[in-house]
Amino acid sequence: MPATHDVIILGAGAAGLFCAGLAGQRGKRVALLDHADAPGKKILISGGGRCNFTNLHTGPERYLSENQHFARSALSRYTPADFIALVERYGIAWHEKTLGQLFCDGSAKQIVAMLLEECRAGGVDLRCGLPVSAVEHADGLFRVGFGAETLAAPALVIATGGSSIPKMGASGFAYDLARRFGLKVVQPRPALVPLTLTGEDALFRELSGVSAEVVASAGKQRFREAALFTHRGLSGPAILQVSSYWRPGESIAIDFLPDLAPGWLAAAKRERPRVHLPRVLGALLPERLAVRLGEQLAIGAELGNTADRALREAEARLAAWRFTPNGSEGFAKAEVTAGGISTAGLSSRTMGATAVPGLHAIGEAVDVTGWLGGYNFQWAWASAHAAATALADFS
Ligand code: FDA
Repeated sequence: MPATHDVIILGAGAAGLFCAGLAGQRGKRVALLDHADAPGKKILISGGGRCNFTNLHTGPERYLSENQHFARSALSRYTPADFIALVERYGIAWHEKTLGQLFCDGSAKQIVAMLLEECRAGGVDLRCGLPVSAVEHADGLFRVGFGAETLAAPALVIATGGSSIPKMGASGFAYDLARRFGLKVVQPRPALVPLTLTGEDALFRELSGVSAEVVASAGKQRFREAALFTHRGLSGPAILQVSSYWRPGESIAIDFLPDLAPGWLAAAKRERPRVHLPRVLGALLPERLAVRLGEQLAIGAELGNTADRALREAEARLAAWRFTPNGSEGFAKAEVTAGGISTAGLSSRTMGATAVPGLHAIGEAVDVTGWLGGYNFQWAWASAHAAATALADFS
């Protein structure tokens, strides 16, 4: 069977759509296939419906990967400024919310419409709503069964994402396919995900709905953002960030009062010796949280009658409160999947498999996982751009 296309891209999400449009506009005959009934579904629900499409502070250090340097090449050749220029070309209004995070003023639908228009301009053959039944590779051609048809091309791009949110059609498809082509897969795990608490820590679940700005840390990684107590444990941006670095069995630490310098409790003792600890905490933290922390610290006496050592210990606990999560809310609630197709078998310039000419992998399917805040979409755009550029040169 002769080639029907120059490139077949599996997965019409952020990375697949962007790669298809670019390769199509560079003269490639592109087929873009997705088993979902419509393209770009995760984009539509992202950023609370406004799509946090990039982050101004993008850099390889804001990504997790077994190879910390892998993302550098693609990220430096397609930057947030490049994507902003595209967004502006389409007249999509945007704003910076916080911490370099850029959102649409209007709706994530505008980003999907833009990507679809880019595909249209590239003459992309987009097909949705049927299963990819088989993928074969022989005589320099990849043959892909899609519904009742078979398509063939000398290049194949895996852009089917990670395992997060199976309800939306996510699957381990990319990993199975990659393994069949001899690529290694770094054990996928939920990331940017709420953590669950049991045992002693479960007392904090009673604070469901309470949030506070904290510094949360897992190992050396520290994030200053809001933490939220939930009926299952901990969530909020600070917790989602550390969840990507947390491993089962480990603890995380929370600094509930990151703005206070050491010795602040001793100073409070001198200024207000008659006051009790929960009262002091109540002026600094949400009431219910202050009460719970006060109970746990169990300093019953007035500050004036409490030894300085006990106050220093209380301060130290408040600055690094240990929680040992018993798990996370899993792929059902994880914003992304960490791990994935190992970068060891991929070129960082082309996203191509070094051992299988014509095969590429991009986006979340690859073992490159960004922080919360637009970094994952920037990786989708940058890795897609790297692959499309290489495909345009591939004859
Ligand atoms: P993506 O998941 O977008 O696309 C994969 C495509 O492959 C899907 O269309 C799927 O249907 C298809 N597919 C899967 N299996 C297949 C199969 N077997 N056959 C055919 N097709 C198949 N990131 C960010 O930077 N800013 C943000 O605001 C958010 N917000 C956000 C909110 C929520 C609720 C979630 C779950 C995630 C985010 N993210 C995010 C993360 C971001 O959505 C994610 O990293 C990118 O969509 C990844 O793009 P990909 O194209 O790699 O995968």
